[in-house]
Amino acid sequence: MKGIVLAGGSGTRLHPTSLAISKQLIPVYDKPTIYYPLSTLMLAGITDILIISNPDDLPQFERLLGDGSQLGLRITYTAQAHPNGIAESLVLGADHIGDDSVALILGDNVFHGPRFSPMLREISRSLDGCVLFGYQVHDPERYGVGEVDADGKLISIEEKPTRPRSDRAITGLYFYDNNVVDIAKNIQPSARGELEITDVNLRYLADGKATMIDLGRGFTWLDTGTPEALLSASQFVHVLETRQQVYIACLEEIALRMGFIDADACYELGLKLSKSDYGRYVMKLAKNWGAGN
Ligand code: G1P
Repeated sequence: MKGIVLAGGSGTRLHPTSLAISKQLIPVYDKPTIYYPLSTLMLAGITDILIISNPDDLPQFERLLGDGSQLGLRITYTAQAHPNGIAESLVLGADHIGDDSVALILGDNVFHGPRFSPMLREISRSLDGCVLFGYQVHDPERYGVGEVDADGKLISIEEKPTRPRSDRAITGLYFYDNNVVDIAKNIQPSARGELEITDVNLRYLADGKATMIDLGRGFTWLDTGTPEALLSASQFVHVLETRQQVYIACLEEIALRMGFIDADACYELGLKLSKSDYGRYVMKLAKNWGAGN
């Protein structure tokens, strides 16, 4: 399975903060926002990842993440010249996807919850059609909304409905089989001129191939699109990290635990950041995993 992180958009709701920097490079507490969606793909076992962003911002993502080999990944980059919608990433990423399946994640989505990695790996193994993730929110009208019947079967999807049929937002993480490339190529721009991811999902729904998994109340899903949301996400990460001394979305740690890199390589990565708590955490972790032995 391939991965795509869409880190585009103009971030207008974060102006002036995002005037000179991509919103996915602004920190959520102690690391750039894009670390969080990247960590989600890595936890799904995905190592071949395409990052899509605006032509102006791409060089900064490359400076941050390089070719990904230091993390045992392969990271490539493609520009989205205009913000033509989320579904365009599947067209821009067609060569990257090839004849594989794909997980698409939005660059400002933060996921955190128990047993997330095994769940994602299981989904990627048994994928047929598309898998979406539902999350209860108080303001579903801001999102794509999924409605399920009494048996949990997905029966409707609507993009930002004025009168939502449920309180289940569809999160910015989407698993698709290979048909998605043809589907995305054939949808038409919506009234707001964008290729809507909801239209892709509706195609799968019409074919009886769309499933929505409810992430449940013990799970955390946040986005970072406004100053308020960004602060909430930072506070959430801060509380968990300081209370438990366990880092969320530490890419070096995930690469180590997933077996993408060994303990010595992990230690070296930490050493480069050793003036920060983050770097020292990576070094300590690598030592515990046998670095230097
Ligand atoms: C987009 C999608 C929407 C989804 C949301 C998740 O909305 O269009 O269906 O629920 O991401 O973050 P946007 O962020 O473009 O308003």
